Amino acid sequence: MKRVAILISGSGSNMVALARSMTGDHPARPVLVASNDPAAAGLGKAAAMGIATAAVDHRAFGGDRAAFEAALLAPLLAARPDIVCLAGFMRILTAGFVQRFAGRMLNIHPSLLPRYPGLDTHRRALEAGDAEAGCTVHEVTPALDAGPILGQARVPILPGDTPQTLAARVLVQEHRLYPAVLRRFVAGDRRPLLLPAAAET
Ligand code: GRF
Repeated sequence: MKRVAILISGSGSNMVALARSMTGDHPARPVLVASNDPAAAGLGKAAAMGIATAAVDHRAFGGDRAAFEAALLAPLLAARPDIVCLAGFMRILTAGFVQRFAGRMLNIHPSLLPRYPGLDTHRRALEAGDAEAGCTVHEVTPALDAGPILGQARVPILPGDTPQTLAARVLVQEHRLYPAVLRRFVAGDRRPLLLPAAAET
């Protein structure tokens, strides 16, 4: 059984989708949900699902990124994860941290990478006049939002869309894509998964 740790910063809706998928004959199980924010709503959701949680407040370390990561590594390594999933995790990780999990750390990003790495992806897609948007699951490498793509899901951009309406449409696809990619990844299949557009919800 593969052990999956999930890092979150906020609501944890992607974490919930991942955790819910790891049941039955799924070859992985969630073993830890950790956050850089003790107030992250996702921590309560994880606890309610019976998943061990940990919180390391990055603000307690001032700007010392290495010290924060050392503190985060303690519960993370104690959970002995085979795979680490970043799910709405909003801290940039150093190359040293990432290299510890080289080839077994995944992230979901709310754009069709390589377009719009970084923040504020939906506003940028709208301002560019794009016809579509979406989300990407990729392997995490030291370069931000730039690792090998493992899956993508696309949504149409509709007239009148705002960053909020677009984000909500993309989030639905994130919750489909991430569990599907994780299941393949656990089985050793790293071929990119391009999800067909879902019936418009
Ligand atoms: C999602 O848009 C995700 O793509 C981004 O963070 C947002 C919130 O994710 N990384 P979650 O609800 O905390 O999983």
